[in-house]
Formats: sequence, C-alpha cells, structure tokens
Amino acid sequence: MRVQVAIVGAGPAGLILGQLLHKAGIDAVVLEAHTPEYVLGRIRAGVLEQVAVDLLDEAGVGRRMHAEGLPHDGFELLIEGRRHRIDLAGLTGGKQVMVYGQTELTKDLMDARASAGLKTVYEAKDVSVHDFDTKRPRVRYRNGGDGQSHEIECDFIAGCDGFHGVCRASVPKNAIANFERVYPFGWLGLLSDTPPVSGELIYAKTERGFALCSMRSHTRSRYYVQVPLTEKVENWSDDKFWDELRKRLDPQANGRLVTGPSIEKSIAPLRSFVAEPMRFGRLFLAGDAAHIVPPTGAKGLNLAATDVRTLSRALIEFYAGSETGIDHYSARCLRRIWKAERFSWWMTMLLHTFPDTNPFEQRALDAELDYVVHSLAGRTTMAENYVGLPFED
Ligand code: FAD
Ligand code: DHB
Repeated sequence: MRVQVAIVGAGPAGLILGQLLHKAGIDAVVLEAHTPEYVLGRIRAGVLEQVAVDLLDEAGVGRRMHAEGLPHDGFELLIEGRRHRIDLAGLTGGKQVMVYGQTELTKDLMDARASAGLKTVYEAKDVSVHDFDTKRPRVRYRNGGDGQSHEIECDFIAGCDGFHGVCRASVPKNAIANFERVYPFGWLGLLSDTPPVSGELIYAKTERGFALCSMRSHTRSRYYVQVPLTEKVENWSDDKFWDELRKRLDPQANGRLVTGPSIEKSIAPLRSFVAEPMRFGRLFLAGDAAHIVPPTGAKGLNLAATDVRTLSRALIEFYAGSETGIDHYSARCLRRIWKAERFSWWMTMLLHTFPDTNPFEQRALDAELDYVVHSLAGRTTMAENYVGLPFED
C-alpha cells in the first residue's frame, strides 16, 4: 500500500489529524493497536479549550459537541473549606471552555472517518517504523485478524501513538532529549450516572489531598481524589470512594452530592514529560507520544489537538510546495507545550498534598495559592492559562 501520510495511533491526535488531512485532500491511513471498543473504553479528559473546539469545527466533527457539550464560564477552587471562583469569561474577555468527554469526541471522529470511507486498521500488531531519515519511509504491521504482514510506503509518518507507543521509542537515543518529573501520587477517578454536585468544576485542596468534581453531562459525573501511588483500584469500593470524597468537600457540596454505582473507576499516575525535538526526518511526534502533563490543568487532550493543528498545516504547506512548516513544526509546538507543561506543573504543585515536603516550601506554596485567589493578577494568570493561550503563529 502507498499513502501520503501513515498515522500511528487512533487516539484524539491521530483521528483529528486524519480528519484535517482528509479535508485538505491528503490521503492517510490510521493504524491502531487496539479495537475501537477498547479505545472508547478509556475514560480520560473532559475539558476542551476554545482552540480545540474551533479545530473540531474545522475538522467537520463539531455538531454533537455543540449540541451536547456544556460551555463553562468559570470554575471554583475550594481551599481548606473556602470557595473562590475563577471567573474565566470575566477575566479573559469572554473566553469559555467546553466540557465534552474524550470518549464522545473520539466516537464523533470515528463515525466521521467511517462515513467518509477512510481506512483505519484496528488491531494492527507489531507496528514498526522504518527509513524515516529518507524520503520514502515505511511502516510495517501484522493484521490482528488474519496474522498477515503488511508494509505501507508513505511520504511521512505521524507518531500519534501515545506515551507508550513505538514511534518515539524508534528514534535513536542520541537524537532525542527527555525532560521528566514523576509525582508521588495518582488520581483515582470514578464515573457515575448521577447529576454533578455543582454547575461548575470544583478543584479542592485539603489536608487529606486534592479532589476534583467534574462532569460529562447534567446526568453524568466524574470525580477524582488524590491517592498515594501504592493504592490499588481493587481496594476502593464505591462506598469507600464516596466517603473519601465527602471528607474533601465543603458542607454546601456535601449537601448536594448524589452518589451512585460507578460505571468506571481507575487510577492514573501523574507525570510531566517532554521529548525534544518532535521531528526526526520524515517522522513527526504529536500528542502524548511527545509529552505528558499531569491532568490538573486539563491540558493533555488540548495539546494533542494543537500539535496536530500545527502538523496538518505544515503538511498542507509541504504539498503546496513549501518545507517551512515542517521545518518549524517542532519549535512551534514546543513553545506552546512548555507553557502548558509549566501551567500543569504549577497547578499540581499548588493544589496537591506532597508527602515529605520541606515545611518551608509547603508554606510558600500555600502563600502563593492565597496570593493567586486574592489578587486580580493572580486569578487572571490562572484563567488565561486554563482557557488556553492564544496561538503565536
Ligand atoms: P492517546 O489517547 O494515548 O492515543 C494513542 C493511541 O495510540 C491509543 O489508541 C493507543 O492504543 C495507540 N497505540 C499505542 N501504541 C501503538 C502502537 N505501537 N501501534 C499502534 N497504535 C498504538 N487529559 C486531560 O486533559 N484530562 C484528564 O482527566 C486526563 N485523564 C487521563 C487519564 C489517563 C489514565 C491518561 C493515560 C491520560 C489522561 N489525560 C487526561 C490525558 C489525555 O487523555 C491525553 O493527553 C490524550 O488522550 C492524548 O491523545 P493522544 O491521541 O496523543 O494519545
Ligand atoms: C477533568 C479532568 C481534568 O484533569 C480536569 O482538570 C478537569 C476535568 C475530567 O475528567 O472531567
């Protein structure tokens, strides 16, 4: 098989890229290691920045998001029992975020791909990438159904295969630099068909640890509590989760909290990670394949979307005769990525409880959070970063 672009990974990065290239008349195949059901079963992000919303509109997949998604004008910080509202719209000249689950977005992208008749190979096993330092890269895989081996010849490979994917791992070690911080805790998340505790998200900092009250719709809630890395999800019954969440909320929230059976429960470890550069000849990394943020700032999915926005424009420019876009891809993305990395790290430091912190540093972080919520400049900084920084290209 020969295509212009071989995309490895059918997460948000790979599927949005496929859609944007299709709109531009560039042909691409998507190779995904798992089944569509498995991909849709992973409950992850829930908050979209305006730039991601605009990009999904541009990709022609925004209809259901606008009908069913929930635009939010602000969120609340609950700090040691006191609420502080971050008025996103008021502080950013009217900007909002959209609460719409990654699962729903992925489903919309899968449906759009299927109805346009675009080729996606699910259960593509042993995917390997070759010759990306030449103008004729190749991707090999084994079909999960019949076990047959295949080779795809292409102009470019887009590595959209997430943190544990094969693309970044195929780059020679001396050509790539990794920057990483691993946090000593994770988030235990619970999804339930119960109405959200509040109209807006609540980020809570307490002595027992961080908690987040989020939602997927008016009838479906998503809650998280900070847990030590040693915790196992099997040890958390639904009742134990609800009890712990209650201890981290204020009386107002507890008065409104509706509990119920979980639909999904899982623990995600928190990590900050950036690989530089993001281009190796004809191989481009995008999304979690190149970087990870702790979820506190809700930036992971948004960064995946903005990377492929930049990549699709670069590839369109290439086929129109200019290599400027592909030459600048890595630097352009990294500038935005590092700002989101900084913000996610900062939110994580401010809102979580760290075991074994230097007491001086803990007091200084508490003072910083106090400053942020009581200062217009502080709240504006938080709001500006949360809704997403403007593009500089
Ligand atoms: P992914 O969604 O990881 O997609 C990569 C795809 O590549 C996967 O479908 C994978 O199966 C496939 N793949 C992997 N290896 C191969 C291979 N060798 N061959 C073929 N295919 C392969 N972000 C937030 O903003 N808020 C959150 O609450 C949040 N929660 C998260 C919870 C967890 C457990 C995780 C892991 C991430 C979370 N994130 C969250 C981050 C967000 O979900 C990701 O940033 C987003 O999914 C990135 O999209 P992506 O397409 O780059 O990568
Ligand atoms: C969700 C996750 C986040 O990390 C966040 O900051 C906000 C919302 C969510 O899953 O709904």
